[in-house]
Amino acid sequence: MSTTPLIDQAISVLRHNDTGIFTKPGPHQYPHQWNWDSALIALGLSHFDLPRAQTEIRALLSGQWRDGMVPSVVYHSAPSDYFPTPAFWQIENSSAAPDIPTTGITQPPLLATVVRMIDDRHSVPDFVREVYPALLRWHRWLHTDRDADGSALACIIHPWESGTDDSPRWLRLFEAIHPEALPEFQRGDTRHVAATERPNRAEYERFIYLIDLFRKRNYEPSELLKHSPFLAQDVLFNAILFRADEDLRALAKSLGEPTDEIDGWLDRVRINFNTRFWDERVGLYYDYDVREKESILVNTASTFLPLFAGLASREQAQRLIDEHLLNPGEYAVGGDVHHWVTTTAKNELTWEARRYWRGPVWVIMNWFIMEGLRRYGYDDLAEIIRQDTLGLIEGAGFREYYDPRNGSGCGSTEFSWSAALTLELAMNFFDGEATFH
Ligand code: DGY
Repeated sequence: MSTTPLIDQAISVLRHNDTGIFTKPGPHQYPHQWNWDSALIALGLSHFDLPRAQTEIRALLSGQWRDGMVPSVVYHSAPSDYFPTPAFWQIENSSAAPDIPTTGITQPPLLATVVRMIDDRHSVPDFVREVYPALLRWHRWLHTDRDADGSALACIIHPWESGTDDSPRWLRLFEAIHPEALPEFQRGDTRHVAATERPNRAEYERFIYLIDLFRKRNYEPSELLKHSPFLAQDVLFNAILFRADEDLRALAKSLGEPTDEIDGWLDRVRINFNTRFWDERVGLYYDYDVREKESILVNTASTFLPLFAGLASREQAQRLIDEHLLNPGEYAVGGDVHHWVTTTAKNELTWEARRYWRGPVWVIMNWFIMEGLRRYGYDDLAEIIRQDTLGLIEGAGFREYYDPRNGSGCGSTEFSWSAALTLELAMNFFDGEATFH
């Protein structure tokens, strides 16, 4: 079957969610500009409207703080029913973007990777020159203001920074957090999406409690690093950052800029990543609780991100694939699960088929995994996952995530990055092959 109708539909989702300067991740649930969504959206746009892809990236960077942080959300548009609002964040830090409201936290730094992909395909040296300094400042901020132990690994201070908000890997950290005196708030996220597909109340209260703590400390990075009760080194975040550092380095070289600083980050992370995260006994990468100084022993699909980053050795890659990705008790189809790749291993007690990052299939995760598999030469397995992913989208539309048992859609409808990555999977993957099935 030809992917052409799917390509047309994906383009129309991106057009529909387009506000002119940024694209809503979802028309109702996510009406502002989200950081890593926006990077992938730009990648999708670059397939059919390169100038618009560049506008998307400029719009995100217009929210950059003076210290280098690129926030998780930029609120370009008029007030909406999305919570938390800019008024709730109460950003008064003098480093914040002067002209535009933003959140006070960041998100996985995919942007340099996307800019490199766009430049490789379309050669946009002037655009690279324009955005390179902002990307460099963001990466510098991550490797310094978010470095808790001199390892150059970046810490996250809020589960929203991981992009995988209610992933079960954060549950244990949450047990140590007891929200007292929660500020008044009204959830907005369960207005458009069933509560059974969104984070539980206990987690949501902790999300809000943390923001309340941060605003009391005026979002000062050093204060937050010192005092946030949630402090983690996240495999997914650091793998994305490492890959993005490599891509930033390639951009620097293309511009004739020095690379010593970036080389320093790459060297340190290359050494520290495996020491910190790899567990040789079980053949998995585990996240790290910086406060408790111990590994978080929860098996989620972020264990495959080091393939995307090229941080796993051949042997590590083989173990991740043989013992976990192809294991029907964990990630492979089997039992009542018919689709690749669940975001949490099925044998984790916290696994849930329809709840947000607790188990459903996400297109972004599959894309990371496919890119990683191809990087290590597992093209056949990547192709199986690609076919399955496109089949899910064809069957249930451009949803935020999918129930891996029957492929039904969950979360937001007309979800922009599912559309953007459809273009990537249908038009770019395997050298532009445009058919499947
Ligand atoms: C949300 O509101 O669900 C987001 O993930 C937070 O950025």
